[in-house]
Amino acid sequence: MSDKPEKLITDDGLRLDGRHADEIRPMKIEIGVLSRADGSCYLEWGRNKVLVGVFGPREAHPRRSQRADTAVIRYKYNMASFSVEDRARPGPSRRSIEISKVSREAFEPVIMAELFPKTAIDIFVEVLQADAGTRTAAINASSIALADAGIPMKGLVTSCAFGKVDGQIVLDLNKEEDNHGEADFPVAMTQDGEITLLQMDGNLTPDEIRKGFELVKKGCKEILEIQQAVLRKKFETPVEEPEAEV
Ligand code: CDP
Repeated sequence: MSDKPEKLITDDGLRLDGRHADEIRPMKIEIGVLSRADGSCYLEWGRNKVLVGVFGPREAHPRRSQRADTAVIRYKYNMASFSVEDRARPGPSRRSIEISKVSREAFEPVIMAELFPKTAIDIFVEVLQADAGTRTAAINASSIALADAGIPMKGLVTSCAFGKVDGQIVLDLNKEEDNHGEADFPVAMTQDGEITLLQMDGNLTPDEIRKGFELVKKGCKEILEIQQAVLRKKFETPVEEPEAEV
């Protein structure tokens, strides 16, 4: 017997967590949470909780992994065994290897790796609690952690998924929607709107994809504003107002 709720979207257009189709889950970001990392970020997005540590640029080891003309970027996505309902088996899986690869590729166009030959830039992601959308949450957190580490980038990378639930195109699926929905389509983009990650699970028509992209662009714009606000808060030095002459 399926545990699918009768309706994932109510007659008044609301989702089971009270969101409209075009709304992202609430996001909370803390920057610089790991003292041994060069940059770090803790991010909560709905019920997802992810922690990212960035190390480097530092001499790449083993030495044969070094590249004479650029830094190598390494991205490791890991799920804590307690992060999901059924215990996640420790160690790499096909899924975590795939997520690590596509997430690294999502950053390659923006990180100015050519400035740091022979070095490595390591991005370590630990998913502490998962509720669908962990790869997108981790990319948003990694963007902040890279900026916190002072890694030169052409801009931030922002990520969000859209999907199809009860026949409707909605933004940022939660676990229930991901489990029982018809499609999930994670996207990452640069500040200029260049797509750096695009995956699809399920079936969608070209029209549905167009509609989903409009939602994702809106979602990514909101996330970018949150990311920028967090970075501004940490790095912007307040301008001292000159004292008024009497
Ligand atoms: O997390 P994301 O949506 O990026 O990836 P997914 O492979 O589509 O997984 C969706 C959700 O399934 C995860 O966020 C977890 O909540 C859950 N999951 C799980 O319960 N056990 C796993 N081994 C993998 C995923």
